[in-house]
Formats: sequence, structure tokens, C-alpha cells
Amino acid sequence: MRRPKISVIGAGFVGSTCAHWAASKELGDVVLIDINGDAAQGKALDLFEASPVEGFDSKIVGGSDYSLTADSDVVIITAGLPRKPGMSRDDLLSTNAKIVKECATQVAKYSPHSVLIVVSNPLDAMCHVAMNASQFPRERVLGMAGVLDGARFRSFIAMELGVSVEDVQAFVFGGHGDTMVPMPRYVSVGGIPLQQLLSEDRIAAIVDRTRKGGAEIVNLLKTGSAYYAPAASAVQMAEAIIRDKKRFLPCAVFLKGEYGVQDLFCGVVAKLGAQGLEGVPALELNAQEKNMFEKSAAAVKELVDAMAKLGV
Ligand code: NAI
Ligand code: 2OP
Repeated sequence: MRRPKISVIGAGFVGSTCAHWAASKELGDVVLIDINGDAAQGKALDLFEASPVEGFDSKIVGGSDYSLTADSDVVIITAGLPRKPGMSRDDLLSTNAKIVKECATQVAKYSPHSVLIVVSNPLDAMCHVAMNASQFPRERVLGMAGVLDGARFRSFIAMELGVSVEDVQAFVFGGHGDTMVPMPRYVSVGGIPLQQLLSEDRIAAIVDRTRKGGAEIVNLLKTGSAYYAPAASAVQMAEAIIRDKKRFLPCAVFLKGEYGVQDLFCGVVAKLGAQGLEGVPALELNAQEKNMFEKSAAAVKELVDAMAKLGV
């Protein structure tokens, strides 16, 4: 039987860490592609040489030639510049749009049936670039942000309550930016609603820290942005698809009228399985959540319009 194949485009911090998680979970064979082919080849070989020690059975190769990626089941696109202190995700717009366009075009040529998971920033806008360049249907173009932002939200709640992260279920709606919408009303800690465990002030402080979670890491690292949690999040999405798990995960989806948003990528809870996007459950939002979601979608739309003006 053929093993699943996962390609990761961009062998930098996020990409190489994706390869690491994917291989160590034995999701399938892994290909690492970068414009710097030697670095991708070197990281792939180094990771493969870890496999006898760690005991995972994955073929791992790297380079700059997209023919290596042929017939991938899932492709994770991480190519592009990361943020530096003082930069917003949006500052990366035009440079990363050109990079993602080139990568998605090549991926579509060699793996026309793959599911794309976009990671490059600004995330929601780059999903549009990837969908346009690949010409894939919306079921096969997803953006990774909600799993990460939700994981940050869950981590901060667990820290505050001194409980296991495993017992905290939480998600974030909206675009991957300052307008993201953490959803405290839907948080449960071992089945108990968060509002019964924490004061409104403490919840508001955690929501604020979640919104600034990416910048918190950038300010500490100084030369780049987060990569462990982002890579783990992208690989969780890949796993849901490869193992047809039918998981409900928050991610950027091309909305076609859901939540009143038309033809725009934005973060919602989605059902992920072998077909990629297999459904968008309709959550009931209260007036405040709806308002924040609409503002976040409007911020994404502004970026998509800005790209159109720049001709990228
Ligand atoms: P990095 O700088 O470590 O790696 C980027 C890699 O892309 C480099 O190895 C570079 O050589 C490669 N690259 C550049 N142009 C390329 C091309 N045309 N073809 C193939 N490879 C190319 O950056 P890092 O930390 O891995 O971040 C990657 C991207 O992911 C950034 O845009 C960052 O903002 C984004 N990101 C998004 C997150 C999210 O939640 N959606 C979370 C973390 C990072
Ligand atoms: C993050 O949230 C930079 O988008 C990246 O860490």
C-alpha cells in the first residue's frame, strides 16, 4: 500500500518543524522544499538520520525541485518572510504574495489532487493567493491560524487555572490578526463553562494576551516569529486530513455565505477529513461576537483589496 505523502514548502523554522512533527507522528513520507535547495536537502537528511534513534519510519527528502513533491496528499505552504519586531503580519503582504503564488502554482502542477494548508502570512490573504494560483476548489485550500490562536488561548486559560491543557477546549474565530475573535462563551474546562471559573476581568486579560500571542513571541525571539506551536497546529490539520479524522478544528476557510460572509477566507470552525474541508458547522453567535467577526472579516477584505490594487 502506498504511504501518504506530505510536502512542506519552505524549509525555514516553521517548515522544518512541520517536517519534524509529521515524521515523528509517522503521518507518511515527507518532502521539504525550499528556494535554498541544499538547506532543505540537509534538513531532510538530518531529520531522516534521527529516525533510527527516535524509531519513526518515514522517507524524508528535500531540495528545490518540485518534482520531488509529485502526488502529495497534503502540502503545507510555509514559504515567505516571517515578522520582525515592530512589523505587522500585513507588512509582509506583497513579498509573500509573490512567493506563495509561485509555490502554489508549482504544487498544483505536480499534485493536482492535494489539499493545501497555507501558513505563510498574512494568512487569510495568502489563502486567496494560493487558491487563485492553484485553481483548487475551496475544499482543498485551508489556512492554519485558528488551531494556533486557539492553542494559545487554551494554554493561557490552563496557566491561569492551574489545570491540564488537555481539559481546556477553546477556539478563535476571524482573521489571523489583531482583530481575531477568541470565543470565551464557547470555552469549556472539563465540560464546565469558563464563565463559572474565571471573572470577566481575567477572561478579558486572557483574550487580550491571545490576540497579541504572536507579537509576544516575536518580541522575545527578536529575529523571527513562533514556530513550534504553528508547526504543531499545521500538522494537526494535516493529520485530520490524512487519517480522515472528521475533526472540528478552527481554520481559515473560503466562506460562501456562512456567517454572512461571501467569497472571503476567514477563520471559523471547520470539519476536516480526507476531502479537506468537509463542512462548516453553523454556530450561533451573539450580537457582540457577530459584530467582532464582521470587523475581522472586513480587515481581511481590506488586505485582499490591497493585494488587488498592488496587482499581486
Ligand atoms: P523562515 O524565514 O524561517 O522560513 C521561510 C523559508 O521560506 C526560508 O527557508 C526561505 O528560504 C523560504 N522561501 C522564501 N522564498 C521561497 C520560495 N519562493 N520558494 C520556496 N521557499 C522559499 O520563516 P518561518 O518562521 O518559517 O515563517 C514562515 C512563514 O510562516 C512566515 O510568513 C510567517 O509569518 C508565517 N507564520 C504564520 C503563522 C500562522 O499562524 N499562520 C505562524 C508562524 C509563522
Ligand atoms: C504567529 O501568530 C507570526 O502569525 C505568526 O505567531
